[in-house]
Amino acid sequence: MPPLVKELLFAACTPGLEPFVLGELETLGLIRLIEPESLETPTSEQSDLEESGGIPFSGTLEDIYRANLALRCASRILVRMPSFRAAAFPELRRKAAQLPWEGYFSRGHSAAFRVTCHKSRLYHGEAVAEHVAAAIQDRLGFPIPRTKWNEGATKDGLQLILIRLVHDTCTISVDASGPLLHRRGYRLATAKAPLRETLACGMLFASRWDKTAPLMDPFCGSGTLPIEAALWSRGIAPGHFRRFSFMNWPGFDPQKIQFLLKSLEKHPIGPPPMILASDRDKGAVRVARENAERCGMLDFIRFSERPISAIEAPKDPGWVVSNPPFGIRIGQRNDLRNLYAQLGKTLRAKCPGWKVTLLCLNQEWIRYAGLIFDSGIPVLHGGRRVRIFGTRV
Ligand SMILES: C[S@@+](CC[C@H](N)C(=O)[O-])C[C@H]1O[C@@H](n2cnc3c(N)ncnc32)[C@H](O)[C@@H]1O
Repeated sequence: MPPLVKELLFAACTPGLEPFVLGELETLGLIRLIEPESLETPTSEQSDLEESGGIPFSGTLEDIYRANLALRCASRILVRMPSFRAAAFPELRRKAAQLPWEGYFSRGHSAAFRVTCHKSRLYHGEAVAEHVAAAIQDRLGFPIPRTKWNEGATKDGLQLILIRLVHDTCTISVDASGPLLHRRGYRLATAKAPLRETLACGMLFASRWDKTAPLMDPFCGSGTLPIEAALWSRGIAPGHFRRFSFMNWPGFDPQKIQFLLKSLEKHPIGPPPMILASDRDKGAVRVARENAERCGMLDFIRFSERPISAIEAPKDPGWVVSNPPFGIRIGQRNDLRNLYAQLGKTLRAKCPGWKVTLLCLNQEWIRYAGLIFDSGIPVLHGGRRVRIFGTRV
């Protein structure tokens, strides 16, 4: 892709995070093409609901780099190639061979395909992938071996291609990100039920934390929320610590990344905010500290091992942003009810005037906190529909 040509791009995200991704794209100055209300709603045929939300926008090659480096809530950046009609395999192969594959592959690279077919004459995903792979070879003159995509073990030179056939219209997208963007590269260890970093940022954005007042997570687990808060408040790009698929594309200039990081990472003047993170589990706090150290944020977060009842809040009101336990097994209902009652009691006693944002399954549990929460923002978390609830103590 020549550097100044504008491409149709798509910032995929967990459904529910779209408004935050949209706000981030606007802050970056990237053009929005379609009103979010008109976005396709996920269909039951979509195998990966986690990637079915998102915001279309347009941008240059440099914008693709910037979006990957800077977006805190997006899960992938896709380059959407022009759609075409394909109702038979020879037509699919011929038309797919007209796409500019030379922008994304070099000799020795391999490809993984994800195919979704919906109400189309071509409905066999494996055969569709085979024909698009053949089309790439037709275009490039050398074979691109096919392999499986494994989020946890991607390798350099492996390019993910997403193919979507709906009513015989084929849309092919080239993934610019590689491993999902919540994989920032610093969280090598996790505690129980970790949050995705992208959802943690969605919660921080939903809370409207001002990045100067104190922020507290009394159920910090592996530290995702406080670490993302620290990175955001220090102006560190979420993509600072990792590699991306676009780094394998022909003509990629590594110096460009250093230049872009310099322009994106405006370190704030003034004292850093007080970020407090605690958990009653010793192992979780150790893991959280290690993760924070890996991305240089340990000095910005005060970690401690303590139960919710023993938190100590600074006098100046701030924000509690947290992900208390809510997954229950039979026999745990009373424990969880007591935990939320304790949370409410502690917040009323120690955090008067603080704003509170919690991720929870539904109103049932947070009601036991005895605080009146808003109706919440629905999001997907680990395949479950949960909500980001907010209130003020
Ligand atoms: C859902 S996890 C938080 C996960 C975290 N957001 C992350 O990304 O890793 C809930 C955490 O609450 C902690 N926890 C449970 N009961 C607690 C209590 N009474 N006081 C403090 N922490 C508690 C658990 O140890 C667990 O780490």
